[in-house]
Formats: sequence, C-alpha cells, structure tokens
Amino acid sequence: MDNKNKIEIKNLNLWYGDKQALIGNNINIKENKVTALIGPSGCGKSTFIRCINRMNDLIDSVRITGSVLLDGKNIYDKDVDVVSLRKKIGMVFQRPNPFPMSIFDNVAYGPRIHGIKNKDALKKIVRESLVNATLWDEVEGRLNMNALDLSGGQQQRLCIARSLAVKPEVMLFDEPCSAIDPIATGRIEDLIHELKKDYTIVIVTHNMQQAARVSDFTGFFLLGKLIEFGETKEIFENPGEKATEDYITGRFG
Ligand SMILES: Nc1ncnc2c1ncn2[C@@H]1O[C@H](COP(=O)(O)OP(=O)(O)O)[C@@H](O)[C@H]1O
Ligand SMILES: [Mg+2]
Repeated sequence: MDNKNKIEIKNLNLWYGDKQALIGNNINIKENKVTALIGPSGCGKSTFIRCINRMNDLIDSVRITGSVLLDGKNIYDKDVDVVSLRKKIGMVFQRPNPFPMSIFDNVAYGPRIHGIKNKDALKKIVRESLVNATLWDEVEGRLNMNALDLSGGQQQRLCIARSLAVKPEVMLFDEPCSAIDPIATGRIEDLIHELKKDYTIVIVTHNMQQAARVSDFTGFFLLGKLIEFGETKEIFENPGEKATEDYITGRFG
C-alpha cells in the first residue's frame, strides 16, 4: 500500500459562521486507492469531502483554515483556478442530478465547456465515458433520449460518466448509493472498484458494509473530527479507538 499521496490534508478547520464543523483534520489520500469516510449523520463528512474540490466556496458563511494539497500544491492558494481544479476533481452527489437534456448532451456538457466542438471527438468521449461508467450497453442507440427518463441507478451512472468525460484525476462520491436500490448499488460499487485503476477515489458512505466492500482506507469522523484513519481491514477488524468500535458495531449512529 505504498502508493504516493495524491491529496494531503493538513490541519483543516471549517466554520459555518460561528459554528465549527471541521476541527484540525489531517489525512493523506493515496493515489489509485479508494478512501471511505464514515461516521454518524451531521459529523461533517459532506463538509469535509466538499473541501477537496472547493465546493464550500459557494457558501457565504464558510471560513476555512489549513491546507489541501493536490500533488503537493495547495488548492486554496490564491493563484488556483477553481474551474480547472473541478475539472481535475469530479464529484458525484447523493441524488442523481442529470441535466434535463439528452444522455449525449449530459456527457458532452463538460467537454463542450472546455472547448471541444468537433462532433466526432465529442462522440468518442461520450462513448468512452459511458463505457467506463458501465452504462453504454444499456443506452447505446438511444443517446438522444432525455436523461431524466432513465432509472435512478442509470442516472447515477450517467452522472459518473458526465464527470469522467472531462478526464478528472480524482473522483469524490458523497453517499452515491443512498437514493438507489440494492442492485443498482451493487453496480456502482463494482464500478468504483474498476475506476480506481485510473482514478483516486474518496467516498462518503453511511453504509459500513459498503465502506468495507469498496475501500482500501477508511476514516471515521465524529463531531467534525477525524477520530481514526487506516487500512479498511484494520479499522473494521481491529479499531484502535473505542468510539470507532462502538460505531462499527452499531452501538450508536
Ligand atoms: N450550509 C450549511 N450551513 C450551516 N451549517 C451547515 C451547512 N451544511 C452543513 N452544516 C452543518 O455542519 C455539520 C456537518 O454537516 P455535514 O457535513 O452535512 O455532515 P454529514 O455529511 O456527516 O451528515 C452539521 O452540524 C450541519 O448541520
Ligand atoms: Mg452528508
């Protein structure tokens, strides 16, 4: 497990107004591995993962201190362009959120924004992205269909394809399966497993079985603090902290 650190988070604090939601967190995220973040509702998992692509910049009351290094460069430095940062770090949310347009246009959306206009080039990217999101076989031949007419699980894979289309390096998933059924969930988990060959993945999940199934590393959060972090097997089989053990064994949360 000696992959390089793709992301290094150092002494990260975040406040919503006067309320501190993240407290002095340090984590290293390894390249081409899946890192899961678990913990009870409201402990700051979404807040934390949103710090990794500066999504919290969109909230007025937020103040952040500390650093998030991507390949050694602090993404909070003044000279960082947030649009190109989000191209490198894709994100998939709890509820599938395809745009109300065709499957093709959803996937082509990002590449078009980044200046790709050539029709054949776009077709190639759309196909590749749908193949990589394991959706191609289900939608081939009907790419003009409205994305909102897909099932929930298909919509979520479409959102993954849409993210992959701009060729990110890191993929963030915030409870990507909480709004879809168990079979669709299994497909997304298999997909995440495939994607880690090419991407660095961080996934928030309230489902501990899911964390155990898909991740190489797990971090346990409580009240805004990273309580414990380590190899997933170690965290689940031999947690060092009582709070982690209590949470994993279902004693609270
Ligand atoms: N936009 C916001 N404004 C103010 N407080 C927020 C906002 N988003 C989240 N919080 C608060 O920050 C804490 C952590 O929330 P969140 O990161 O959503 O936790 P989790 O994803 O683990 O459920 C909670 O107390 C929540 O109420
Ligand atoms: Mg959340």
